[in-house]
Amino acid sequence: MSDRSLLVVVLAAGEGTRMKSRLPKVLHKVAGRTMLHHVLAATRAAGATRTAVVVGPGREDVAAEATRIVPDAQVFVQTERLGTAHAVLAARAALEQGADDVLVLYADTPLVRPETLARLRAPLAEGAAVAALGFEPEDPTGYGRLVTSGDELVAIREEKDATAAEKAVRFCNAGLMALAGKDALSILDRIGNANSKGEYYLTDAVEIARVDGRSAVAAKADVDEVAGVNSRIQLAEAEAILQKRLRLSAMAEGVTLIAPETVFFSADTVLGRDVIVEPHVVFGPGVIVGDDVVIHAFCHLEGAQLAPGVSIGPYARLRPGTRLDEGVRIGNFVETKAAHIESGAKVNHLSYVGDAHVGAGANLGAGTITCNYDGFFKYRTEIGAGAFIGVNSALVAPVTIGAGAYVGTGAVITSDVPEDALAIARSRQVVKEGWAKDFRAARADAKKKG
Ligand code: UD1
Ligand code: CA
Repeated sequence: MSDRSLLVVVLAAGEGTRMKSRLPKVLHKVAGRTMLHHVLAATRAAGATRTAVVVGPGREDVAAEATRIVPDAQVFVQTERLGTAHAVLAARAALEQGADDVLVLYADTPLVRPETLARLRAPLAEGAAVAALGFEPEDPTGYGRLVTSGDELVAIREEKDATAAEKAVRFCNAGLMALAGKDALSILDRIGNANSKGEYYLTDAVEIARVDGRSAVAAKADVDEVAGVNSRIQLAEAEAILQKRLRLSAMAEGVTLIAPETVFFSADTVLGRDVIVEPHVVFGPGVIVGDDVVIHAFCHLEGAQLAPGVSIGPYARLRPGTRLDEGVRIGNFVETKAAHIESGAKVNHLSYVGDAHVGAGANLGAGTITCNYDGFFKYRTEIGAGAFIGVNSALVAPVTIGAGAYVGTGAVITSDVPEDALAIARSRQVVKEGWAKDFRAARADAKKKG
């Protein structure tokens, strides 16, 4: 990685009206994290030494997300929306602090990779003053065009200001730009707004650098990386591109996906070697999966840690705070939440285990329910190692089942069960010989008589 200092300026002051949302556009999520988070993660991986985020007026929510991801990020407010150069200049105080390189990105371009940012920035170390990132969209309408001559970038022309010849250029401006730190302010301060939109265009930086006798160049990126998100349709397109990337990388790292197109990851999903994921599985944020885990079809996981050799599903739901130790088995229609289940324990069918600790080797029969909530507060259930919980038992928390204890089928357990004890908590069975036969005869008789 380069040892040059890097100031990143992320523009997030757009209104995002086409999203038709109460939520600011850049807080919409792709693969479980906000678009702003994706951009900040990419810039961090690309070696950002300082981060400035430009937000619209009153956008405390965007500012809060920025500092959640990069705690020392500086947040600037662009009070009027007068164009992309004007937006960058809202971060003037950060630019004045100086940096070898300055990188400008849009927060609504979440798919850009750190490698591409490094490539965009590299020419600055060789003396270029400006580097722009270009791509070739299927339909260039609406984009600025990169006017090149050999290796040199001559100008970026906005569509509205372009001549017919310039409009014919297919190489378009993605919007990301690298500027030499020592020139950035002097260039930005000279950008005017004498154009068809009356806006301060960041793209004018190219021609100003060239007037100074400095060089400007263009790097090229894949369409899939620089697609901007302006609508829910483009949000779904970005999701599809990112999911494809995450699936390919999981498989490249030794995970078997039987039907990759049906498995959905979060950007932060961590998977070990020789994990097998059957069709139709959704990974929400915060999932860490160890080696040799099998995730059967139709599982939903979020905020869960699975140690090596665990097997879950089909149809298991692991909610936040689930921690499964080595070799644990979670079967069909089982839900877990804030539950630590120790090695070798089994919860094979139709159970809810919440706010609980289950010791090693315990066996929870079908339909075991931890009754953890009284409508006001949550309570914990402790199940000791090697305990056996009979089918259809309700464990009314707070309650402790001692190690090695036995709970008879159909129990409603309201007080603690000592170690190695048997607890039976159900009404005794009553049998009346011939009762059903007599009952039927009496009813049939009554019916006949009307
Ligand atoms: C811009 C580029 C264009 C490029 C296109 C790629 C300029 C002049 N044009 O055009 O060459 O092809 O992006 O998508 O730069 N923003 C602010 N404050 C402002 C204006 C914009 O924060 O005052 C932010 C927006 O939130 C957005 C980004 O900057 O994230 C781009 O602004 P937008 O108005 O969409 O620029 P385009 O006209 O699409
Ligand atoms: Ca745009």
